[in-house]
Parts: sequence; structure tokens; C-alpha cells
Amino acid sequence: MSLAQHFTLTQFLIEERRRHPDATGDFNSLILNIAVACKRISRTVACGALGDMHGSAGGALNVQGEQQQNLDVLSNDVFLQVNEWGGNLAGMASEELEEPYQIPEVYPRGRYLLTFDPLDGSSNIDVNVSVGSIFSILRAPEGTDVVCEEDFLQPGTSQVAAGYAIYGPSTMLVLTIGEGVHGFTLDPMLGEFVLTHPDLRVPEETREFAINASNSRFWEVPVKRYVDECLAGAAGPRGKDFNMRWIASMVAEAHRILMRGGVFMYPRDTKDPGKPGRLRLLYEANPIAFIIEQAGGRASTGRQALLSVEPTGLHQRIGVVFGSKQEVERIERYHTEPFAGELENPLFNERGLFRLPA
Ligand code: AHG
Ligand code: MN
Ligand code: MN
Repeated sequence: MSLAQHFTLTQFLIEERRRHPDATGDFNSLILNIAVACKRISRTVACGALGDMHGSAGGALNVQGEQQQNLDVLSNDVFLQVNEWGGNLAGMASEELEEPYQIPEVYPRGRYLLTFDPLDGSSNIDVNVSVGSIFSILRAPEGTDVVCEEDFLQPGTSQVAAGYAIYGPSTMLVLTIGEGVHGFTLDPMLGEFVLTHPDLRVPEETREFAINASNSRFWEVPVKRYVDECLAGAAGPRGKDFNMRWIASMVAEAHRILMRGGVFMYPRDTKDPGKPGRLRLLYEANPIAFIIEQAGGRASTGRQALLSVEPTGLHQRIGVVFGSKQEVERIERYHTEPFAGELENPLFNERGLFRLPA
């Protein structure tokens, strides 16, 4: 494709709107506002140690009890400020805010709800590894004036759109509005996101997996089985060698999987019984799951489709498995097989009486 044929995000959205003559334009202006927020965050992240936003936020903890970085706080403020005035939102919810954010009285209210993780992977900022922003757009329930937590507790299947920006060697915005997944690269000279990756598809097969192996002693048996089989390589039941990656920025892992396939797991484990998983459902798991499934991949808790989970809390955590369809389906199958709890039994291991099926 020559550069002249490259569409900007604005042009892409105008084309989309032409295909939906009833659309008011509210949705497009919301996406464009989010894109502005991402551009501003990208600029600050790119300044690195030259800017004055490096380091932790004076020891502050966020609502999850996690160490906040200055850039977490700044990115949250940027998302709120850029999106509150547009007149298309009824309210927002963020990883960094305990309660839903009310649109100030001075601005008109709209029909949509925005949830976001303003900066994902922020523990990587000081080591100059890719980070990102994740967002999800829902419809506000009819007649919403003051938003409350319940308004946001909608399953992932209700998402109108979802996306992420990745601040890496180049900045990209990856977006789904429910009709495939499209990737836009920020042209720093033009200041515009340009459509460079139309119709992204996750390859169905893979030989690459991502998991934080330091948690292996807390994994449930089906996850342990899956990873053990990958590690066994060509000599094991899978009959092929696997590669492993762990970036500790889910956005960056999701992006790699969109580009070349793979499977990502941050599964439910026994590390902290109070936390059924590490990642948050509404602004991390659901938007990424929507994107991955729109690109032909699969996203799951291990036990059910992620997008079908009925949320119970704004900051609820959940086990997450996503990526190449065949691998995710295999992991789901391992969660249902009756001998899943018997793996520690020598009768069921590789040399045992009941060899595990490939
Ligand atoms: P956040 O920076 O928004 O708190 O999210 C970080 C998440 C996710 O991006 C990543 O996959 C995971 O935490 C990394 O966890 P570990 O530090 O346990 O590897
Ligand atoms: Mn995150
Ligand atoms: Mn975050």
C-alpha cells in the first residue's frame, strides 16, 4: 500500500459513519478524543527521563493498593480532562479511581460510558519498555444522570468499542468497533494516527506462550499441565518446541499476539485467595478480549468465555487466557477434563498408566 492510500483515523471513522447513516457523530468524536489523550500520553512517555514525570508518585498507592507512578497519575488526568468535555459520555471509570467519575455540571452529558487503564505495564516505565493505555466503551443505561458502579457492570459482550494505545518504538492505536480490528501508527510529523494494519487477524496456531513463571507454585493443575507440556517441547506430548515471552505489560503481549500469534495467561491462582486473578475485568481483560476475538482469536477465564462474565465489581479481578484460538481452546479443555485434578498422581503422568492425551 502506498502512503497516499493510507487513511488517517479521522478518515477511517468518517468512512465508518457513512456506512451507518443513523450515527450522530458522538461516537466518532469520542474515539477522536481518546486518540488525543493517547497522543498526549505518548508524548510524555517518549520524553523519558528528560521529562519531569519519571518515578513513583511519592509512595502513593492506588485503589488496588499498588504503587502509583507519576505517569499513572498524569495519564489518568489526561484521560479525564480530554474526555469529560466532549458531551458524549455519561461517566468514566478508571483503574486509578475508586469510584466512577462524574461528568462536571458545566459540560453536557452523553450516552456512553468509558472505562480505562490509563497506563498499563507502568512498572516498566523506568526501564524503557513498552507500556500502553487500554479503553472500553459501553452504552450508559437509559436515563442515566449520576453514574454509579452498577451502570458499568455490563458483560464484555455489551462493549460498543474497545482499543489500546501502545507506546513502544512507535506509538500505535489498535481499535475495534465490533467489525474487525484495525491498527493505526502515529505519524509523529503529522500528529495523526494512520491506518497501517487493517483487518488484523490472530494466527490460529502458535508455538509461543507468555506467563509469569515465578507464580508456577500457585498455578492450578490445568495451567501447570499446559505449561509443562509446552516446556517438554518436541519430546513431549505436544510434539513441538515452544518459545516463551514475558514483558509484564499486557498491552505489549496482546500486541505481539495480534501481530504473530501466541497465547497469554495470567490465570486464576492460589497466590492470594482474596484476588481471583491479577488483571481487572472491566478495563483490562474485557477490552483486550473484545479485540482478540474480533481478530479471530479467543479469550477465556479458562472456564468460560471472558466476554460472557457478568461483572460484580468495578475493580474486580479475573483469570485471563487469550490468544491463538486452538491453544486457548486446549487450555479450556484442560480445565474440564476429569483427570485435571489428578495430575500429581503418578498414574496419570507422562510415564504413568494413563498417559495424557496430546
Ligand atoms: P498495571 O501497570 O496497569 O497495574 O498493569 C500491569 C499488569 C499487566 O500489564 C501485566 O501483564 C501484569 O500486570 C504484570 O504482572 P507481574 O508483575 O505479576 O508480572
Ligand atoms: Mn494494567
Ligand atoms: Mn495501569
